[in-house]
Amino acid sequence: MRKNIVAGNWKMNTTVPEGVELAKAVNEAVVAQELKCDVILGVPFTHLTAVKQVIDINKVGLAAENCADHNSGAYTGEVSAPMVASTGANYVILGHSERRGYYNETNEMLKTKVDLALEAGLKVIFCCGESLEEREAGKVEEVIKAEISESLFHLSNEQWANIVIAYEPIWAIGTGKTATSDQAQEVHAFIRNLVAEKYGKQLAEDTTILYGGSCKPSNAQELFAKPDIDGGLIGGASLKANDFMGIVTAF
Ligand code: 13P
Repeated sequence: MRKNIVAGNWKMNTTVPEGVELAKAVNEAVVAQELKCDVILGVPFTHLTAVKQVIDINKVGLAAENCADHNSGAYTGEVSAPMVASTGANYVILGHSERRGYYNETNEMLKTKVDLALEAGLKVIFCCGESLEEREAGKVEEVIKAEISESLFHLSNEQWANIVIAYEPIWAIGTGKTATSDQAQEVHAFIRNLVAEKYGKQLAEDTTILYGGSCKPSNAQELFAKPDIDGGLIGGASLKANDFMGIVTAF
């Protein structure tokens, strides 16, 4: 059975002390109740070690928002997957549209990052999603298929168990414009079929597929009720513990 997951992606927000307070508040709320989903916090590199110290890692997962496409060496300013793993983080978010768009990350580069992350023992939350132009041109499936197959379909069945997919339509990120639950479900079902064609029905059924893009407490329940939507990757609403927990408890 696949897991339901709600993951926060703090992006480039909060100082370390602010992040520690936010993580403490989320951790406190998570440990205080029986939840129907796993909870993960995606935080800036600078915050990983400090946040790790204030969460119960068995109850709240910890993710970096990126990692380098090399393991070590003369790459000033980069942070590698083994470095992320050494903080005690257990996940890394890869292929976010902001990384693809602003930092020119390609499917080929992401393939390398995915390999290094898995090698370092991290689970990967792999993002995909189309722009508004691509949607309007009828290219949603083509774009998603290229992003997923070119960066992930070299993985073995065993490795695939450590992959979580996040579908994030770019036009819905930070815009307040959520994909309707039917629009999201349609793409999630397409992704699950794609995975089934490559890895078989069982692995596809076991794959967690998250929705991201203006997800908030008021729309989470409708989105998560769809058969192929297994949770969310949350940006803006993950920066307030109450909003984030409102989404976590939508299951
Ligand atoms: P928002 O929830 O702010 O739209 O961001 C979504 C996102 O990009 C999560 O990775």
